[in-house]
Amino acid sequence: MHVLRQVLLQASRSTAIRSVIETAPGSRQVVRRFVPGTDPQDAVGACADLVGQGLTTSLDHLGEDTTDVEHARRVRDAYVTVLGLLSDAGLTQGGRVEVSVKLSAVGQALGADGEKIALENAREICAAAAAAGTTVTLDMEDHTTTDSTLAVLRELRQDHPSVGAVLQAYLFRTEADCRDLAVAGSRVRLCKGAYKEPPSVAFQAAAEVDLSYVRCLKVLMAGSGYPMVATHDPRMVAIAGALAVTNRRTPGDHEYQMLYGIRPEEQRRLASEGEIVRVYVPYGQEWYGYLMRRLAERPANVAFFLRSLVSRG
Ligand code: FDA
Repeated sequence: MHVLRQVLLQASRSTAIRSVIETAPGSRQVVRRFVPGTDPQDAVGACADLVGQGLTTSLDHLGEDTTDVEHARRVRDAYVTVLGLLSDAGLTQGGRVEVSVKLSAVGQALGADGEKIALENAREICAAAAAAGTTVTLDMEDHTTTDSTLAVLRELRQDHPSVGAVLQAYLFRTEADCRDLAVAGSRVRLCKGAYKEPPSVAFQAAAEVDLSYVRCLKVLMAGSGYPMVATHDPRMVAIAGALAVTNRRTPGDHEYQMLYGIRPEEQRRLASEGEIVRVYVPYGQEWYGYLMRRLAERPANVAFFLRSLVSRG
């Protein structure tokens, strides 16, 4: 299982495998389980549907391989446009629909000026989100970007204090990062982590990642920030619920988050109990890397994916 995960994460960076999967006859329909569409209208429709079910959402414009400044600007503009559409549809007020942004998509990897370019683009997205009555969460990518992403977060929060961060429990550093960020007004999404990381920086065994997740949850739940519990793991959800009780938290001061298409019944169950549940909704043409990370998380999804490709092909 560990080997399969490593292979799939490796494949997520391979252009040859990418072109085979993108052009396979059955791909599109399978991808729809995890990515509701490629156009902004698809994204707005999916958010409206989820909000109608009593859920909230975070919309992610897919795209990680931004190689020039123009491309980074187009991604920024895509966010500004979709925020306008979401606002027109009445979905953004009170943060019911927010957006998630990968800094690499808005320029972070563009050489020495990358962080500055990403910060400027992210600022404009934050301003558009604020005008629409909602906010932004910065996704976290591989460990080489963590310091830069947290530095951009600090800058953005000066004007937009509600901008959220993501911390990944598989990194050794994360418990300390949780302590730094468990402060009033700070929104922190805690996830296990989805990238291939070396043993020098990250726990490798699933059990160790889970233990780290619980330690980090304890810090966030006991702190004065706004914890966002991003996991599909029933044990982590139960532990978060218990920690919320011991820390006298109530449904409005923390939330649960899950990915589009994964455990939708559990999303609705938690919401029906009065919890805030946010569904992460990715959309766009660049679904390949996202899909491969989802397949790496669960071998059953690989079998499902391959069966669909064969039966449709
Ligand atoms: P784990 O992978 O241990 O799964 C526990 C159980 O959940 C499984 O046994 C299964 O029942 C179910 N499950 C999990 N994944 C599934 C799948 N793909 N298909 C079907 N069932 C599945 N990562 C990152 O590095 N940076 C980021 O910014 C984000 N952002 C983010 C936002 C949100 C809202 C979520 C929910 C997750 C992320 N992630 C992320 C991804 C995260 O790091 C992690 O890879 C996945 O959430 C899977 O980990 P779980 O906590 O679900 O546990």
